[in-house]
Amino acid sequence: MKKQPFHNFVVDHMTFLVEPDLYKQTYALFRIVFGVSREDLIYEKRSNWPGQKKQSSMTFAARVGSESNSKTPNQAIIAVVQPTEPAKQSSHVRTMLKNRGGSCHWQHIALRTPDLIGFHRHSVERGVNFITPILKDAEDDLIQVFSGEWMMPGAAKPSATFFEFVQRDPSAELLKQLETAANREAWFRDKTFLGLYGEKEKEYQKGKAVPFIDDALAKRISAKLKGLEVFEIEDALLDEVEADMLDYAAKKRKGKAAAAA
Ligand SMILES: [Fe+2]
Repeated sequence: MKKQPFHNFVVDHMTFLVEPDLYKQTYALFRIVFGVSREDLIYEKRSNWPGQKKQSSMTFAARVGSESNSKTPNQAIIAVVQPTEPAKQSSHVRTMLKNRGGSCHWQHIALRTPDLIGFHRHSVERGVNFITPILKDAEDDLIQVFSGEWMMPGAAKPSATFFEFVQRDPSAELLKQLETAANREAWFRDKTFLGLYGEKEKEYQKGKAVPFIDDALAKRISAKLKGLEVFEIEDALLDEVEADMLDYAAKKRKGKAAAAA
């Protein structure tokens, strides 16, 4: 248990799910209350479902603030998503909202790390599940990966909450591009949004989401921490938990390798 350079996270963006009836209102409130200008609308994606008469807006990303005194501009971005699927078509966004009581739901927070590959390796070695490989965009300025859902072992329903981890390494050229309105969406790409959207849809059609860590591992950790308050958890015990996680993940990898052979 040691803090590594890749553990220096900052919030990159957050994704907010809202009911269709709240979507336009959210847009208006962001524009008016949060002062989101047209230039701050860095992304918008429209659906084109079969049989749809008119395209609907699936998502928009609004920059609610930015600080430009560092090499990587520090921006606060909220991506708002509504379910646009026709009523008869399955929609994981609709299910997520329903599971969480409706109206709205913070679906994921994207944490930016200076070393995504390092953090990913560290996490996988400790049994963390990711639902996508590390995704890389064409111009190599953004890499990202999505975790499983944060949930109770054996929970009947998925929690609809997970993490994204990203690394942005904008070159001088990219930064220049970002200054021009035409390329604002370089920070929020189609492939990214639709790639994750498709993965989550597959999980929700199955009715089972991949958890952040396997139930078996979660139970092992719970057993180790049983009866203790957080203020009673010594670092030595956390070292034991970490050893358990490393052991669990190593055995799982071996099992998979054996099954593949
Ligand atoms: Fe995201």
